[in-house]
Amino acid sequence: MGKPMTILAIETSCDETSAAVVKDGREILSNVISTQIDIHKKFGGVVPEVASRKHLENVNLIVQEALEQGGVKLEDIDAVAVTSGPGLVGALLIGLTTAKALAYSINKPLIGVNHIEGHISANYIQHKELEPPFVCLVASGGHSHIVKVLNYGSYKILGQTRDDAAGEAFDKIARALGLGYPGGPLIDKMAAQGNAHAIDFPRAYLEEGSYDFSFSGLKSSALNYLNSMKMKGEEISIPDVAASFQEAVVEVLSEKLIRAAVEHGSKYAVLAGGVAANSRLRQALTHLGEQRGIHVLYPAPVLCTDNAAMIGSAAYYRYLNGSVSDLTLNARPNLTIGESV
Ligand code: KG4
Ligand code: ZN
Repeated sequence: MGKPMTILAIETSCDETSAAVVKDGREILSNVISTQIDIHKKFGGVVPEVASRKHLENVNLIVQEALEQGGVKLEDIDAVAVTSGPGLVGALLIGLTTAKALAYSINKPLIGVNHIEGHISANYIQHKELEPPFVCLVASGGHSHIVKVLNYGSYKILGQTRDDAAGEAFDKIARALGLGYPGGPLIDKMAAQGNAHAIDFPRAYLEEGSYDFSFSGLKSSALNYLNSMKMKGEEISIPDVAASFQEAVVEVLSEKLIRAAVEHGSKYAVLAGGVAANSRLRQALTHLGEQRGIHVLYPAPVLCTDNAAMIGSAAYYRYLNGSVSDLTLNARPNLTIGESV
């Protein structure tokens, strides 16, 4: 082992301003997250322009805080990492400009990171023994992919959503139920008091053998159910709708991920992204994994949702692979997994 590598990472792709100091891709020295949820929830979702302004106001303070909490000075940092996409263009640009200025000022490498790769890498921090290859479900507000992680930084997409992302479906149904934003955690909580078998919502498994997802039929079915109950003047049980909807999402995600792990000879089925924080998904997957001989892994909730530590982990492996960026690094709002940043 050579000298340890300390990376300062910055994440501003959506509504969390975050900075972290990560050692050798696996150890968090600090992970400071400032969420804008309270600001955006008034609007029922993220307002891009407001997000950019808030990142701009906060980012320097958050970086300072991350260095202080990590017990390091800027001069001790070996490289600066930043999310370059996917995400909101204005929001990404704030992180990018900050990271470029810092890297330039200390004359250290700049490493652009794919946000989805960051979500997967959160598992390297949580599970020190985890190494590729393995199969991973990345489910967030913008993405739902089943990915085979072939090696560090090398991915094969096995399946993805054909319409809404899983988190997006949670957010839309939560809004229809009047629960607020972001919907995932609110449905998760509400569902705990409901009956998951009260309403028989559809499960879209698609063609035989497919690892793709589709949540639009389920979403329409839940919205139709709410409308028809209102028209008939019947009382709606919000916990039952939340639990039944969540169960339909969880069943499809779990079944497809475990099947992908079995069919690709992966010992592990790994979860990542905001939806990986869902308590029912974690429970159902663990249970299904036990039945089929697959070890299910997921990060702590704080590492599931957006944070800079996961970017610092992904950046370390990028650096080892020689993927260093230069100051022309730009925002890539539509970057997909496996594309170079
Ligand atoms: O990864 P993330 O923080 O941001 C994106 O990259 O999109 O994911 C946010 C998404 C939101 O849609 C949110 O509702 C969902 O993750 N989410 C959850 C839970 N916590 C966050 N969905 C279901 N259950 C949860 N506990
Ligand atoms: Zn994310």
